[in-house]
Amino acid sequence: MKQKFFKYQAQTTPHPLAMEVSHANGCYIYDTNQNQYLDFVAGVSACPLGHNHPKINEAIQTQLNKYLHVMVYGEYIQKPAVELTQLLAEHLPKPLEKTYLTNSGTEAIEGALKLARRATGRSEIIAAKNGYHGNTMGALSVMGYEERKQAFRPLLPDVRFIEFNNESHLDHITTKTACIILETIQGGAGFIEPKNNYLESVRKKCDDTGTLLILDEIQPGVGRTGRLFGFEHYNCTPDILVTGKGLGGGLPIGAFTASQELMDLLMDNPKLGHITTFGGHPLIAASALATLKEITESNLISDTLRKEKLFRKLLKHQLIKEIRGKGLMLAIMVPSAEIANALVLESQHKGLILFWLLFEPKAVRITPPLTISDEEITKGCHIICSVLDKIAASHTN
Ligand SMILES: Cc1ncc(COP(=O)(O)O)c(C=O)c1O
Repeated sequence: MKQKFFKYQAQTTPHPLAMEVSHANGCYIYDTNQNQYLDFVAGVSACPLGHNHPKINEAIQTQLNKYLHVMVYGEYIQKPAVELTQLLAEHLPKPLEKTYLTNSGTEAIEGALKLARRATGRSEIIAAKNGYHGNTMGALSVMGYEERKQAFRPLLPDVRFIEFNNESHLDHITTKTACIILETIQGGAGFIEPKNNYLESVRKKCDDTGTLLILDEIQPGVGRTGRLFGFEHYNCTPDILVTGKGLGGGLPIGAFTASQELMDLLMDNPKLGHITTFGGHPLIAASALATLKEITESNLISDTLRKEKLFRKLLKHQLIKEIRGKGLMLAIMVPSAEIANALVLESQHKGLILFWLLFEPKAVRITPPLTISDEEITKGCHIICSVLDKIAASHTN
C-alpha cells in the first residue's frame, strides 16, 4: 500500500507521515500495524466530535438510505441543507442569516470574495500578511505568504496586504475597498489572536468606508475557541462569515453566511452568481447538522475553556516558550523548527498525533476533538513533556 501511495497518489511534500490508517474511534486513530494513536489534531480541526461519533454516523446512515445527490445546488428543497442553514442562523447574530453551502473552505472564500465585489461594485481587496484562506486561485491571492504563491502568479489583481493587529495599517481601507478578509484568529501564522480591540477598529473602519468585513472562521469556528464562533470573543460581527472544516463533522464542507440582502445578490444580475454541483450535498449537510446540534446542545463549548486551562497547566517545560491560541486551538512554541519537527515525529512514535502549522515552523499544533477527556489530555501532555525531556537532554549532551 505504501508503494502505491507514493506511486499513484499525488503528494504535496516529499515526506508525508504516511501512516496507513486502519480505523478511528473517539479520540484515537489506529494504524494497520495495530498501533493506537491519541489524536491531538482532529484532522486539522475538522473532527470536533472525534471519530466514529454515533450521532454523526446515525445521521449519515439515515440520509444514505433516503437519497444522495439529486440536483445541483439550490434547485430542490433538501431538508438537511435547509435545517442546517436554519440552525446556523438561529445561532448567529443579526444580520447573519442566510447561508450558502459549498464543498470546501476555499470555495466558500471564493464565494465570499465574489459577493463582496458584486455587492460593492469595487475591486480592491485587503488581506493580512501571514493570513491563510485556502488554495484555489482567489483564496491564494489573499494568502499573505509570498513564498508559497509566487510560482502561481499572476493571481487576482487589486489585492493589498496589511499587518494583522497593526491599527495604523487600517488607513489602507478606503472607499475604494470592496472588502477586508481576515482570519478571526490567524491559524497558519501560529494561532495569533487579535489584540487591543483590533477587530472592533477594523469593524469601525469598514463601517466608515462602506467596506465589507469577511471573517474566516474555517478553523476557529464551531466551538473550538470556547464560543460557537471566534468573533463572539471580540465584539465584532462580520458582514460575511466563512466557515468550514469542523462544521462537516469529518465530511468536506464550506459555508458563507451574510444578511439576506447581501446573499440575495447572488441570484440577480447576473443570476447564478455562484453555482456548484455538490454544495449543500444532503449526506454532508446531515452530518453537519448532527455535528452542529451536538455542539450547541451539549456543554462541549463551555468545557473547551476549562480544557484549555488543563492543557496550559500540564504543558510546563523549559522548551515550551509560549502557548498561543484559545480554547482547543493551541500552538506550543518551541525554540527552533528542528525541535518542533522532533516533537511531532517522536510523539507519533510514542502514540500521540501532533502536527505543524503552515507558516510558523517553531509552532506545534494542538487542536484535539472537543470531546477529548481530561484523562486523554493528561496522557497526551505527559507524552509531550517526556519527548521534550529527551530532546532537551540530547541538546545538552
Ligand atoms: C483559516 C482557513 N481558511 C481556509 C481554509 C481552506 O479550507 P479547505 O482546506 O477546506 O479548502 C483553511 C484550511 O486549512 C483554513 O484553516
